[in-house]
Amino acid sequence: MSRLGFAAEFFRNPLVTASLVPSSRYLGAVMTSVIPESGSPTVVELGPGTGAVTELIQRRLAGRGRHLAIEVNEGFSAALKRRFPAVEVLTAPADELPVLLDRQADIVISGLPWSAYWRNGSLVRSIAGSLSPDGAFTQLGYPLIR
Ligand SMILES: C[S@@+](CC[C@H](N)C(=O)[O-])C[C@H]1O[C@@H](n2cnc3c(N)ncnc32)[C@H](O)[C@@H]1O
Repeated sequence: MSRLGFAAEFFRNPLVTASLVPSSRYLGAVMTSVIPESGSPTVVELGPGTGAVTELIQRRLAGRGRHLAIEVNEGFSAALKRRFPAVEVLTAPADELPVLLDRQADIVISGLPWSAYWRNGSLVRSIAGSLSPDGAFTQLGYPLIR
């Protein structure tokens, strides 16, 4: 999906899409740097949107491990499935993570907006409970005021 398509989703549902543009490669590189460079990690991506970070996760994994992407927007997830056949794309809200995941995640990379946390007070607990004991969680965020 194009950048214009992303912006259209923002105007359609601003609190859920939460950004006018997808993340930059610089931000994506920082977010994905937690993925180990060896082994077969299970990586869960929350709120992948149009796949700006998905692409970098796939590159970093280079065929290793497993990559699940959980996206609530049906249009985004349909486009992701077409673009990234190696990614297990699930169309669902992130708080369903404990039932969607059949094993613990090594890494959770989240592009979720803060509204997802406001709406579900137990989301942080669900994420923490889905991580392996030495797993890592990374969440993007923008300050409202600089
Ligand atoms: C700020 S965008 C980030 C998109 C992408 N990760 C990026 O960095 O460009 C937030 C994304 O989270 C998705 N989202 C919002 N609430 C969600 C929820 N409860 N569960 C899953 N995805 C959600 C939105 O549809 C949107 O794709």
